[in-house]
Amino acid sequence: MKLVKLLANLGYGSRKEVQRLIRSGAVTDDTGRPLSESEVPAHDRIRFRGEELDPPSPLVLMLNKPCGYTCGTDDPGAVIYDLLPERFGQRNPALSPVGRLDKDTSGLLLMTDDGQLLHRIIHPKSGCLKVYHATLDRPLEGHEGPLFASGELVLRNETKPLLPARLEVVGEKEARVILHEGRYHQVRRMFAAAGNHVLDLRRVAIGGLALPDDLPEGEWRILTNEETAAVFAGKNTD
Ligand code: URA
Repeated sequence: MKLVKLLANLGYGSRKEVQRLIRSGAVTDDTGRPLSESEVPAHDRIRFRGEELDPPSPLVLMLNKPCGYTCGTDDPGAVIYDLLPERFGQRNPALSPVGRLDKDTSGLLLMTDDGQLLHRIIHPKSGCLKVYHATLDRPLEGHEGPLFASGELVLRNETKPLLPARLEVVGEKEARVILHEGRYHQVRRMFAAAGNHVLDLRRVAIGGLALPDDLPEGEWRILTNEETAAVFAGKNTD
């Protein structure tokens, strides 16, 4: 791939802007020598204003999403892309959230430009569990676990029953819910069906990948290959 296209695809600017940047000497090799448009060294040897380039596609990152941000690109308020470098929103192929979290849900959100990987993670058949920590308005009563596990719970305005889900009691008003699918506002609607109300919801794991303790809210980082593999690795027992 030509240098201009490579940098434009990584979101460093339009092709015209990237051309200008190359001509201004902003793009160098790892010795600091300015590159011309016709040179394309190995990816890890290219520098933009002295910094290593972002990784090429396929890119997978994790974001510790705070409440108050939506997962769409064209929502009027704050969006998850506001938490990433601006160029991440300009990449081609585009970086998309792997399933959505509600505006008022926080926690682990994966983003990738790898469409196949995205579908593998969100498809119920992939067996990738999504684990949520819910804080409730009222104490658990004991019927919620069997209801969620029944495979017969039909949410309001839907006809298809939910797949069986697991509930683990964490406290009087706290539970972990482990899902195989991701329907609109699913956890909140499940507790509403059980006569309760979710006050706070956080996703704590996807498959075998737990939200790391050292990733503060609003921060992101690129996944290692091991972490990407962990998403598909067995059950999450965290
Ligand atoms: N369930 C919800 O209710 N909201 C989410 O964001 C995810 C699961």
